Amino acid sequence: MSRFSTRVESISISGIREVFEAAGDDAINLGLGQPDFPTPAHARRGAVEAIEAGHVDAYTSNKGTLDLREAIARKHARDNDLDVAPKDVIATAGGSEALHLAMEAHVDAGQEVIFPDPGFVAYDALTKLAGGTPKPVPLREDLTLDPATVEEAITEETAVFVVCSPANPTGAVQSPEDMREFARIADEHDVLCLSDEVYERIVFEGSHRSPMEFGENVAVVNACSKTYSMTGWRLGWVTSTTDRIERMLRAHQYVQACASAPAQYAAEAALSGPQDVVGEMREAFNERRDVLLDGLTDMGLETPTPQGAFYAMPSVPDGWVDAVIDEGVVVVPGEAFGEHGAGHARISYAVDVETLKEALEVMETATARVR
Ligand SMILES: Cc1ncc(COP(=O)(O)O)c(C=O)c1O
Repeated sequence: MSRFSTRVESISISGIREVFEAAGDDAINLGLGQPDFPTPAHARRGAVEAIEAGHVDAYTSNKGTLDLREAIARKHARDNDLDVAPKDVIATAGGSEALHLAMEAHVDAGQEVIFPDPGFVAYDALTKLAGGTPKPVPLREDLTLDPATVEEAITEETAVFVVCSPANPTGAVQSPEDMREFARIADEHDVLCLSDEVYERIVFEGSHRSPMEFGENVAVVNACSKTYSMTGWRLGWVTSTTDRIERMLRAHQYVQACASAPAQYAAEAALSGPQDVVGEMREAFNERRDVLLDGLTDMGLETPTPQGAFYAMPSVPDGWVDAVIDEGVVVVPGEAFGEHGAGHARISYAVDVETLKEALEVMETATARVR
């Protein structure tokens, strides 16, 4: 008899952590997956006032407070032109729990989950934890996911395919036509399109579109984490059709009971309050993206222009990531995000311009070393 489940033995601690551990204490960290801004004051105040008023001492409804779910519904009407009913929303412990619930509720043992490669590390691990079989698929040259690639990968065993736009680790943004295609594919093949939209509000050109605008077989995962720089608060949500939400609620009820009550109040305030902070952060990321791209181009590193999020993914020569880390800048090797990430590095630009410029100088030295 083995001590641990086969499922847990099939996953390991993310490669990103190992990179952080390999770097020195004074290294510049371009490995981070979180904005470097404070949480908006009105969001913090929402939590403080709720705590002081004694509103957070007990469980909330399993799905989250009605006020929060109404704020989430208003957000979807405002930003996505989507009519979401508050009863079809579950507030979760970050987007991470929302992804987990979606997998648990839809994937049977041995069923397949298709996701982008390179892609966010949780898709592979959560598929395995649900007992499913990961089916990573490669990206286009511009690092977007081709709907045709997804459709070709679908078999009788496919339960879910994941779309992430804007994407981690690439910064790529899917076109409205792609999103329409993803929705069609989900409907036609009767599989779930799991749309990870946590970077939704960080788009530099054009705007984010959700496959939920175009079809029924979609679950949307979102969070306050990146939009409002609230990664520590752990507040996300999932929305989908009533039957899917009811199934996801079964898992949520037993693994989480409800999202943390103070975080729910902070999220309600963030979603309902002034949104200018979102635009300010986007502007800052846009400026940094341009600084980074210019620097990478000067070094001769080819980088598809990221249209969103706060990551860039250049093609890099052999030994580049190790040399850069050795010189004192943390970046993440592309293969941490899947086999097809090899030959790339993920660079997060969630640092100020001055730090970014300093890091670029270090990268230039490292690039000269490995050329
Ligand atoms: C693509 C993507 N989805 C989901 C998450 C999870 O976010 P949260 O912090 O809300 O759990 C992350 C976090 O890095 C992410 O990059």
